[in-house]
Amino acid sequence: MAEGERLLSIGVDVGGTGIKAALVDVKTGELAGERIRVPTPMPAKPGPVVASAGRVVSRLIRAANAAATAAGQPAPRIQAIGVGFPSVILNGVTKTAANVDPEWVGFETEAAFSKAFKRRTWLVNDADAAGVAEMRFGAGYGKRGVVIVLTLGTGVGSGFFVDGRLVPNTELGHMEVNGKDAERRSSANARVRRGLSWKAWAEDLDDHLKAIDVLFSPNLIILGGGVSKKADRFVPFLKASGPIVAAQLRNEAGIVGAAMVGLERETEMVREERDVAERTRAEPPPTKPAEAAEAAG
Ligand code: BGC
Repeated sequence: MAEGERLLSIGVDVGGTGIKAALVDVKTGELAGERIRVPTPMPAKPGPVVASAGRVVSRLIRAANAAATAAGQPAPRIQAIGVGFPSVILNGVTKTAANVDPEWVGFETEAAFSKAFKRRTWLVNDADAAGVAEMRFGAGYGKRGVVIVLTLGTGVGSGFFVDGRLVPNTELGHMEVNGKDAERRSSANARVRRGLSWKAWAEDLDDHLKAIDVLFSPNLIILGGGVSKKADRFVPFLKASGPIVAAQLRNEAGIVGAAMVGLERETEMVREERDVAERTRAEPPPTKPAEAAEAAG
C-alpha cells in the first residue's frame, strides 16, 4: 500500500426497514463519502432485497468515482465489502429470520450478495458488525474481559467480546425473560409498539440486562442502536449491576463494522490464496510415470 493511501472498504447494513451503505475508511472508522439509504423492499424477500442492495452499491461506487474525478483524484481503490444482516450467519448462509422474511432461512445469502455486487462479499450478523466497530472506535475501545454490545432496534442484537475477540452469533435478544422472547419487550420497537413511557420500557430492558448479568457477569454492557442517542431518557432508570454505557458510534456502527469485518476476512483470504499459489509454484506437480520414462530414454 502506498504511504498515505486510505484503506477503503464498503459497509452495507441490511435492516428490516432500510438498506444503508457507505465507503468506510477502516483505519479511522469514518465514512469516506456519502451514506446511501433506501427503504428495504416489502415484502423483504431475498431476491428483491439483494437486487436493491446491488443497486445501492453500484450507486455508491459511481458517486465515489465522480467525487474523486471532481477533486482531480484517482478513483478510490476499494479493498473489500462486508454486509451486516439481522440473522445468525454460518458459512455465508442465513440461518434464522426473527425480523425478516422466513425465506432467508437456509438461503445462500453471502453468495447472492457476491453475485449482485460482482465481487467477493463477506456476510456478518448485524449486531456482531456494530459491536466490532464499537469495540474498535467507540465505547468498547481497549476494554478487556467480557464486553457485550446490545443493539436496541427493531429487535435486540448482541455482539459478545472476550478480551476484544468476537464470539459470533450470540443472539442474546432471544433469551427467555419473564417467560417471553426478550426482544419482544426490550427492543426499541417494543417501547413504541406497546406505547410505553421511557421509564416503563427501561424496567423491561432492565429485566433483560439482569438476566444477562446472571448468565455472563459481563465487565461492561454497551447499549447501541438508534435509541442510544436518547440514553439519558432510560439509562438512569437501569438498576442492573455492572457498568452500562451508551454506544458512541450510534447509527453508523453497523456500516463501519460490516466494512471492517469485510476487510479483515478479505485480507485473510487473499493471504491464504497467495500462500497456496506460492506453494504450488514451489512444488511442481509430480511428472507422470510415462513422461518420466521417456525423459530417462
Ligand atoms: C435477530 C438478530 C439481530 C437482531 C438485531 C434479532 O431479532 O435475531 O440476528 O442481530 O435482531 O437486528
